[in-house]
Amino acid sequence: MVQEEEAEKLEERLRKLGVDEPMVEDVKEDEADDDDDADTEGDKETIANDGSKQSRSEQKSHKAIMKLGLKPVIGASRINIERNKNDMFPRGADIRLVSGHPEVYEPCDDSFALVDALLADRGNLLNHKARFCMEIGCGSGYVITSLAIILGKENSGVHYFTSDINPDATRVTQKTLFAHGVHAEIINTNIASGLQKRLVGMMDVIVVNPPYVPTSEEEVNCKGITVSWAGGHNGRTVIDRILPVVDELLSDRGWLYMVTLKANNPSQICLVMRKKGYASRIVVQRSTEEESLLVIKFWREGLDDVNDGNITSSSLGFGSWFGRK
Ligand SMILES: C[S@@+](CC[C@H](N)C(=O)[O-])C[C@H]1O[C@@H](n2cnc3c(N)ncnc32)[C@H](O)[C@@H]1O
Repeated sequence: MVQEEEAEKLEERLRKLGVDEPMVEDVKEDEADDDDDADTEGDKETIANDGSKQSRSEQKSHKAIMKLGLKPVIGASRINIERNKNDMFPRGADIRLVSGHPEVYEPCDDSFALVDALLADRGNLLNHKARFCMEIGCGSGYVITSLAIILGKENSGVHYFTSDINPDATRVTQKTLFAHGVHAEIINTNIASGLQKRLVGMMDVIVVNPPYVPTSEEEVNCKGITVSWAGGHNGRTVIDRILPVVDELLSDRGWLYMVTLKANNPSQICLVMRKKGYASRIVVQRSTEEESLLVIKFWREGLDDVNDGNITSSSLGFGSWFGRK
């Protein structure tokens, strides 16, 4: 009963997300805690196929997958629901909760915020008719797989690319994509090194949840799980390397969705992109106990088709250069 109510609430939320309005969500600490408690309670009896209990992050993954329209099945970590023609969101994918690898970033609040931003902008994304989409820093593959599911059959001709500097991440992503029947070219490289010539000006959508935590510069050059979060000075070292590459890869009508932390000075990031000719808007804003996240969408100025329902810069306390045409 509790699960049914929970599922109804989620469906209601999905319906809301389905309209083409930007979602600016501010999850207060209390709400976040309640949510987690409810989750833990709801998932108590859920065990993985190998009989082990689900970890907190697996439960979070489960919750996020439920947001894509799937309901929990007691005693199973694999669920399969046929698509109803009237459903707003694509279903029918055989969703496998990927347990991951100790050196690979598990989907977390920032990953969920990015997918929520894609869901919030789904109407625009479907109209966008992207041909080439890319994720930089795929980790577990949760985001690129979700993007493919969100775009669904309506955009069946899309080619997906994804990169990660961590070879373990590319292996986990391969499994996640495979479990969902999604094909993507997965490249183990630094940002998009070696690909720029081939993919220059081709990407219609790029999604990035970069390592954004302020750390020492030494940590940025580490290996394994550390590079998932180590963002260097102000958390900007990797972000500042990614931005010019993204500019090269995006097509004229290309969009970038990027997660940032308030500590990264997002308004300054928008200024950097503004100088390259991009307008921007916040699609999701979320504060948790640990961090204050923004998911920002960038597009080349002059393309007004993405401006419906934008949040203005001034209402969010950013300078006027941040906004749109
Ligand atoms: C915060 S994690 C995000 C993972 C996944 N996209 C998600 O949202 O759950 C950042 C990811 O970027 C990868 N990464 C860090 N530096 C990178 C670089 N220079 N080039 C490519 N990937 C990088 C990390 O290995 C990690 O998988």
